[in-house]
Amino acid sequence: MAINTLSTQVFAGQRPGTSGLRKKVTVFMQPMYLENFVQALFDVLNGVSADAQVGTALHGQTLVVGGDGRYHNRAAVQTILKLAAANGVQRVLLGQGGILSTPAVSAVIRGRQAFGGIVLSASHNPGGPDGDFGIKYNASNGGPANEALTEAVYARTQVLAQVRISDAPDVDINVQGTCGLDGMQVEVIDPVADYAAVMHSLFDFDMLRGMFKAGFRVRVDAMNAVGGPYAKAILEGELGAPAGTVVNAVPLEDFGGLHPDPNPVNAEDLIAHMAREDAPNFGAALDGDADRNMVVGRNFVVSPSDSLALMTAHAKLVPGYSQGLLGVARSMPTSAAVDRVAKALGIDCYETPTGWKFFGNLLDAGRVTLCGEESYGTGSSHVREKDGLWAVLFWLSLQGVSGRSVQSLVTDHWRTYGRNYYSRHDYEAIPTAVADALMLDLRAQLPQLQGRSFDARTVVLADDFSYTDPVDGLVSAKQGIRLVFDDGARVIFRLSGTGTEGATLRIYFENYEADTAHQDSPVQEALADLIAIAEQVAGVRARTGMAAPTVAT
Ligand code: G6P
Ligand code: ZN
Repeated sequence: MAINTLSTQVFAGQRPGTSGLRKKVTVFMQPMYLENFVQALFDVLNGVSADAQVGTALHGQTLVVGGDGRYHNRAAVQTILKLAAANGVQRVLLGQGGILSTPAVSAVIRGRQAFGGIVLSASHNPGGPDGDFGIKYNASNGGPANEALTEAVYARTQVLAQVRISDAPDVDINVQGTCGLDGMQVEVIDPVADYAAVMHSLFDFDMLRGMFKAGFRVRVDAMNAVGGPYAKAILEGELGAPAGTVVNAVPLEDFGGLHPDPNPVNAEDLIAHMAREDAPNFGAALDGDADRNMVVGRNFVVSPSDSLALMTAHAKLVPGYSQGLLGVARSMPTSAAVDRVAKALGIDCYETPTGWKFFGNLLDAGRVTLCGEESYGTGSSHVREKDGLWAVLFWLSLQGVSGRSVQSLVTDHWRTYGRNYYSRHDYEAIPTAVADALMLDLRAQLPQLQGRSFDARTVVLADDFSYTDPVDGLVSAKQGIRLVFDDGARVIFRLSGTGTEGATLRIYFENYEADTAHQDSPVQEALADLIAIAEQVAGVRARTGMAAPTVAT
């Protein structure tokens, strides 16, 4: 066995987006494509980059590797092991079968003080040979690498001429235990154990066990993705939930054709079950890499922004948060429902750009304990990723301790704090040039929009959101066009950073309703006038030729 040096070529477009490098499987399967990116990453981690500040030595260190089990996961794992061995990594902790959910990677990195980790996932994007693949690096805090590092990696991909790789045979990744690969140790670990231990430290497992004993019924749809083994081991294994509580529980390379993005459209089977006469008490769905969650009660869907607000309001009911929260954070397009709770609790509330990585600094600095996003992500300081199953256990705990249903918890919340009606409209796969022009024109309109009135509403703030990280002072500009109205309503336009086909325009609508008599309207109806304003300002229909959004959540 030897370390070989292979020539590579520069590939266009290896710049990581909101959440790592995400491309079609066919792109990743081009010879040397993955090798090129991973070698660039290892070079930067070893200090070989234009900006020496971001690099620290990977030599002699431990790296965690795992993915969501989608198509190409297994082949990619073998390639990464051989590159790691050739680049001085001492030990790799690999999830059995190449599997680790995104929050589990974070838990393993933190729990075992690893140098960092590689997550193989395209999250909620479809899988299979025609689907998407992705790769992301997480640092020693267990969270996604910051932009300084990802930019350095990108810069390195653009000048790289050679990769160093072992020619050792493939490692058996299906059996737990330790083996060698060209002097590097590969330890194949139980993908669930470290993560389950973290859940034990936060939740009252005896109380949860008691709920199932008393007949509380739950349906968790793992969408044929990586959350299945975790949900099964914890809910059915440890908590005694009946077999069949977790459905679509075996990770499949193509997710069995499902789109593992937990929203009411893609998880329609769960929604249908929760609308039946004999519906379970509580339902939830997870995404491809198990960091996202959607929670549903009987015939009642919880908006992710409301979920964060409720978790914040009731956090003290959960043992891990009984001392209260240091603060909370939400992404800018997430509704301001949590802001009201934070105010009532007297804790800080931060508004960050979209992307979980922005929460990392706030969590590390002890400024926040909970964070969440409109895109079905919630999490806390227990790891540095959002965490789908954690959210399920959190909501289960809220119901167990309060004895209340999901619907009654949420409607009660509205009566107390008011309701932030909320919806996101996505226009997917539109030509990049069309999307860019639309955003450019909106930006140009900002000065005229400021102060402009639309019927009863007046725009009090029209800007392009810019964020200054309060911890490291880094500025992230152009994070979304915001129109904020005098009654607190908001319309936000931004382009997705996670799509792989053309561009995806996201328009976010939020309208605050304090009057308890008007808090139970259909969401799209309650937002209709804001939706009309967005169309008037941006002309989405004419520009895209699309009569309606592809997805409205
Ligand atoms: C990933 C990130 C989230 C982000 C979401 C949507 O899940 O981890 O932080 O909110 O993608 O991002 P996008 O750029 O597509 O709106
Ligand atoms: Zn995900």
